Amino acid sequence: MSRTPRMTGPIARRRVALTNIGQLVTCTGSERGPLPTLPDLGVLHDAELVVRHGFEGGWEVVWLGQAGAADRPATDATIDLGGRTLLPGLVDCHTHLVFAGDRSHEFVQRLSGVPYQEISRQGGGIAYTVAQTRKATLPELVETSAVRLRALCDQGARVVEVKTGYGLDLQTELKILDAIAALQARFAGDVELVATAMPAHAVPAEFRGNADGYVQAVCTTILPAMAAHAHPPAFVDVFVEDGYFSVAHAHAVAATARELGLGVKAHVDEFVDIGGLQWALQTGATSVEHLLQTSAAGIEALAASDTVAVGLPLTSVFLREPLAPLRTLVDAGARVALATDCNPGSAMTTSMTLLLQLAVLLGRLSPAEALRGVTRTAALALGQPDGYTGRIAVGEPFLGTVLDLPTVDALFYNLGEPVRAWDGLLRAGIG
Ligand code: NIG
Ligand code: FE
Repeated sequence: MSRTPRMTGPIARRRVALTNIGQLVTCTGSERGPLPTLPDLGVLHDAELVVRHGFEGGWEVVWLGQAGAADRPATDATIDLGGRTLLPGLVDCHTHLVFAGDRSHEFVQRLSGVPYQEISRQGGGIAYTVAQTRKATLPELVETSAVRLRALCDQGARVVEVKTGYGLDLQTELKILDAIAALQARFAGDVELVATAMPAHAVPAEFRGNADGYVQAVCTTILPAMAAHAHPPAFVDVFVEDGYFSVAHAHAVAATARELGLGVKAHVDEFVDIGGLQWALQTGATSVEHLLQTSAAGIEALAASDTVAVGLPLTSVFLREPLAPLRTLVDAGARVALATDCNPGSAMTTSMTLLLQLAVLLGRLSPAEALRGVTRTAALALGQPDGYTGRIAVGEPFLGTVLDLPTVDALFYNLGEPVRAWDGLLRAGIG
C-alpha cells in the first residue's frame, strides 16, 4: 500500500495540536493476554496530542499529554475534537469485499436447513459469485465494491485488507487487483487498502476434480502475474478446508508466495480441522483466520507463536455456528484480532460496530480486548503496513479514528446502532 500525500494546504509539514479529546484510547496495552478494563488498553482523559506531518506524506505523533501541560510543544494549528473519542485508526484485517452479485437466495436456503458445503457442492457458493464476478466489467466491480468500502470508512475503518478470490482465473484475479487499485485511488486519504491474493479460495469449475492441476496453475501462472501487477498484493491467502485445498496444496501456494516475496495468511478450521493450523504455524504464517474448529492443542500452539489469530464473529453468526474460542485464545496468550470477513456467502455485512458488539456479547471479550482486535493486533495481522502499529504512541506513525461519541462505552452499549466516525481530521488531511 502506498500513502498518497494529501497535504498541500496551509498546515502541510506542520505541527498540529488535537485538543478537547473526550477520551483518548491509545491501544498501547499488551498485545497478548486479558485486558479486563479499558485502562489496561490505555486510556487518557483530558488529553491532548501533537502530530507532525513527516516524511512520505504520513503523520507521526510527537507529543501526548494532559491538556494544559507546560511541556507541550508549540504548534502551527489546532483542531478541536469537541469532546469526541479518539482511537488509533481502525483496521479491518480480513475482507473479501470486491465481488459482483449477491447470494441472498442461498442465505434463505441455508436458513431452511441446507448446509453451506452442500450448496457449494451443488455449484453454488463461491462458484456462483465467481461467475458473477467474471461477467462484471471493471467499472461495475469498482462501483459495487465502493459502496461496501464506504460503509466501513463511515464507521472509522482507516486500513482495510481486501482479498481477491472471486476470479479464480488469471484474467479475473488481475481484474480484482485493478479494482482494488481503483478503490485505493478513489479513497486516497480516507483508507489504506492492503491487497491479498487469494486465487486458492476454491477450485474453479474448469478444474473440477483436478485441484492439483489448479494449484499448479496458481503457482506457475496466476500468483507470479499478480505479484507483477502495478499494485501487487502484500499477502497470499489459502482456504485450507475439506473440499477446497489440502495442507499439501497450501504448502505449494505458500512456497510460491515466499519466492515472490509475499506474506502468507491462511483460512483454517472453518468447518473441518484438517491440520491447516499446525501447518500454518510451522510455515510462519502472519495470520490464521476463522478457527471455529480449533482444538485445545491448536490454541496452545497458536498462543506460543507470533501468528495472529483472526476471529470473525459475524461469519459464525451468519452461518449459525458457534463463535471461535475467542475468550480461550486471549486467555491462553494468543494475539487475537477481529475482522468483518465481508463477503457474499458467509458474512454479508460491513458492520464493524456489530462485529465489536458480538465479540463482547457472544465471544465474551472485554471491550478493551475487542478494541485491541481492530487496532493493535489487526495491524500486526497485516504486518504493520507503512509502519502503522495500530497504537497512538509518541514516535509512531499516526492514523486516527474519531468516533462521534463522548466515550467508547457507547459503541458497545447501543446495540446494533452503527457508530459514526467524525470526519474532522480527514477533512483537515490529518492522519
Ligand atoms: O471467509 N472461507 C472462505 N471464504 C469466505 C466465504 C466465501 C463465500 O462463501 O463466498 C469466508 O468465509
Ligand atoms: Fe474469509
